[in-house]
Amino acid sequence: MSISQFMTQEHRDCDTEFAEAEQAAANGDWETAEEKFMKFANDTLRHFKREEEELFPAFETQTGNSEGPTMVMRYEHEQVRGLIGKLAGAIEEKDKDAYLSLCESMMILLQQHNMKEEQMLYAMCERILPEETKVTTLEKMKAVEL
Ligand SMILES: [Fe+2]
Ligand SMILES: [Fe+2]
Repeated sequence: MSISQFMTQEHRDCDTEFAEAEQAAANGDWETAEEKFMKFANDTLRHFKREEEELFPAFETQTGNSEGPTMVMRYEHEQVRGLIGKLAGAIEEKDKDAYLSLCESMMILLQQHNMKEEQMLYAMCERILPEETKVTTLEKMKAVEL
């Protein structure tokens, strides 16, 4: 499995968990919403950590550029982290309107972020990283825990 395949699959898995949480909240099933949301939040934060601690540094070392695409991606991660905090607050308060409206913002943000990574950053990593670096980076990413 390539870096691109592994990380794209994680995007899909997080999307599914997010949609399940949203559906449960829409149904007023807050117990399920919280469970699915926690799974989404943990998996997303671990995915970000894989990128920030392993993949982005590998890209930055290879290109000599740490103020390009990876800087934008790190900034967007901060925006997602902020929204995760707000969504957690809405769940705690069982505020359906707030939760569903935050879900819309989150979906737009994540969709655009993930598309940029899949079409640009992951694709570039596959092209420019030496074969050995790709293998070790994927191994190290898989070992990252929250
Ligand atoms: Fe990312
Ligand atoms: Fe990603």
